[in-house]
Amino acid sequence: MFGTLVYTLLVPILAAQAQISPPNLVGTWTSQSRAVSTGPGFANPANMTFEYPKNTGVSYSFTDDNHYEIARYRFKGNGSEPNCITGIMQWVHGTYEQAANGSLVMTPFGDGYQQIQDPCAAQSNFIESYNFTEVISIVRQFRDATQGLKLHLFEFDGTPVAPLFLLSETPTMLPTRLLRNVTTGASPAIERRTNGALHVAGADVRTIGGIVGAAALTLLL
Ligand SMILES: *[C@@H]1O[C@H](CO)[C@@H](O)[C@H](O)[C@H]1NC(C)=O
Ligand SMILES: *[C@@H]1O[C@H](CO)[C@@H](O)[C@H](O)[C@H]1NC(C)=O
Ligand SMILES: *[C@@H]1O[C@H](CO)[C@@H](O)[C@H](O)[C@H]1NC(C)=O
Ligand SMILES: *[C@@H]1O[C@H](CO)[C@@H](O)[C@H](O)[C@H]1NC(C)=O
Ligand SMILES: *[C@@H]1O[C@H](CO)[C@@H](O)[C@H](O)[C@H]1NC(C)=O
Repeated sequence: MFGTLVYTLLVPILAAQAQISPPNLVGTWTSQSRAVSTGPGFANPANMTFEYPKNTGVSYSFTDDNHYEIARYRFKGNGSEPNCITGIMQWVHGTYEQAANGSLVMTPFGDGYQQIQDPCAAQSNFIESYNFTEVISIVRQFRDATQGLKLHLFEFDGTPVAPLFLLSETPTMLPTRLLRNVTTGASPAIERRTNGALHVAGADVRTIGGIVGAAALTLLL
């Protein structure tokens, strides 16, 4: 009886999109707006700048030799302070592997960085190194009748990433190696800006890193 119920619930979904198993990650994937893509035109790691897309979104690329790149442009609202909308640009790349438990573990090279603009914070605009290992617990791939290939990623705690659509079968990525000099635990100092541009200045401000499921980082898309 339970089986029948599950079957009844699944049939309409399966009719609209066929699951592909095992999933093929290789390519460049992007969320609904299709405004954000990894590769040239988003991040310039050598001088730690960003080029702002027209719309928010998230993009992942994967190569067949286990390299990944992630680009995110997001806004985070604040219920108690409606005027305090934080904008975040984030870029990171490195290598990925399928862990024994099936999780996708993405280990960064160390040259990732992010820009945070928070009009209400004491420091309203800054850039910092971003070096988190991100874990995806479940990967599902579908062929959607109208939108084509689609990836559903779930973070380590089950939180879904926005559905990702195939932007290109050939991954569009920056070179898959360290693209700026970094020393463990240190990062270039960043000047505070008011115009959205950034300036890398001298030595030492802060690095954030560690291991997260991207859930901890999930903001409004
Ligand atoms: C940073 O590098 C990019 C790519 O080389 C270049 O187009 C841009 O003008 C540079 N920005 C600054 C502020 O140096
Ligand atoms: C919202 O704003 C308040 C006051 O500025 C701040 O204490 C709080 O951390 C903010 N919450 C989020 C989720 O950013
Ligand atoms: C799966 O393995 C990865 C890598 O060892 C680990 O980070 C993750 O927490 C594990 N996930 C579960 C659900 O145990
Ligand atoms: C790192 O620094 C060395 C020595 O200054 C330089 O030759 C190299 O090109 C730099 N690498 C990157 C990725 O900027
Ligand atoms: C970035 O994180 C990786 C994985 O944890 C680590 O091996 C590497 O040393 C870190 N790099 C920096 C510059 O902190």
